[in-house]
Amino acid sequence: MNKKTLEDFNFENKRVLVREDLNVPLDENQNITDDTRIRAALPTLNYLIEKGAKVIIVSHLGRPKGKVNPKYSLAPVVKRLSELLGREVAFAENCIGEAAEKAVAKMQPKDVLLLENVRFHEGEEKNDPEFAKQLASLADIYINDAFGTSHRAHASTVGVAEFLPAGAGFLMQKEIEIMGKALENPERPFVAILGGAKVGDKIGVIKNLLNKVDTLLIGGGMAYTFLKSQGHEIGQSLLEPDKIELAASLLKEAEEKNVKLLLPDDVVVTSKLEEGLPYETVPVTQIPADKMGVDIGEATRKKFAEAIKGAKTVVWNGPMGVFEMKSYAQGTLAVADAMAKSDAVTIIGGGDSAAAVEQLGYAKAMTHISTGGGASLEFLEGKVLPGVAALDDR
Ligand code: 3PG
Repeated sequence: MNKKTLEDFNFENKRVLVREDLNVPLDENQNITDDTRIRAALPTLNYLIEKGAKVIIVSHLGRPKGKVNPKYSLAPVVKRLSELLGREVAFAENCIGEAAEKAVAKMQPKDVLLLENVRFHEGEEKNDPEFAKQLASLADIYINDAFGTSHRAHASTVGVAEFLPAGAGFLMQKEIEIMGKALENPERPFVAILGGAKVGDKIGVIKNLLNKVDTLLIGGGMAYTFLKSQGHEIGQSLLEPDKIELAASLLKEAEEKNVKLLLPDDVVVTSKLEEGLPYETVPVTQIPADKMGVDIGEATRKKFAEAIKGAKTVVWNGPMGVFEMKSYAQGTLAVADAMAKSDAVTIIGGGDSAAAVEQLGYAKAMTHISTGGGASLEFLEGKVLPGVAALDDR
């Protein structure tokens, strides 16, 4: 990485503003239901503590749209963060102004302070320079560790870097280096697996990956638009009519670029998305008019697993079927299992695929699971992430 990282700074007795992505899911009683993102922030936070910094954490939670809203308070994160760090974390009820300034003024080296949701201010998402300046005035150094938010050009991810020496935290560095190596200098064969509901969401990723991979496996809801473009009748399966031509042109592009693009040969179909209804596996040439495809079939699972088995690098983004329903999780499970058994570098894009791998119990077997949903998608599209671009060059 050509950006400054933690090793490039002296943090002793310095006020360090650390942007983390602590956007964790909360239940209706504001209990954290998944603390993965808090855990992922620990290496950077512990390093800064060890180096004697005053650690000031800034994050967003949810989308409060520039208004104070207790539903999106970061207060519930304080307890879990304190437990995981093994030290008390202070909380400031506003990320700028008197509350923040007073809390920072009280800090001793190794102290940790969490600032209230930065998206309670309109200036955050607008990347307002005045707001960024106020935020920056709390600190001497800025560290961005929030990979999951690095695709947003906001005040706390981009603006503050104008006012302070700026570098990447360990999580940011790890995400960029692992995924960057896979894209730029992969061990081959390089296999990518794409799934999820919509082709529309993945066009940029497919286009970028067609220049990089040896094999591309396509499953999930998006596969049906590809099958339709080949002339198959897909019944009630997900279809994006305005993307049929595009799907055909992507298939052609794959052929021209010598990328092996594999689509399902068989799929699991049912009449409605309800647990307990009958389902069956049919070849893609025989999808009944009144049924919808909800998972890849057994022959396809085998074919995909075979492709993964021979790979040295595997990147996966998007489930193969409606994995939230047990009956239709088999395709997603088969891909996770094949990845876990392979000796390839295995990378899971964030969001749904990360949730699937977690839920199916394969998380530990993967080389890397990205903490970014939108961010990892944009990274796989080959886009420059503004939160990374804003950091100081080495
Ligand atoms: C995420 O959950 O993907 C990140 O925290 C970014 O959140 P956002 O999509 O609301 O910007």
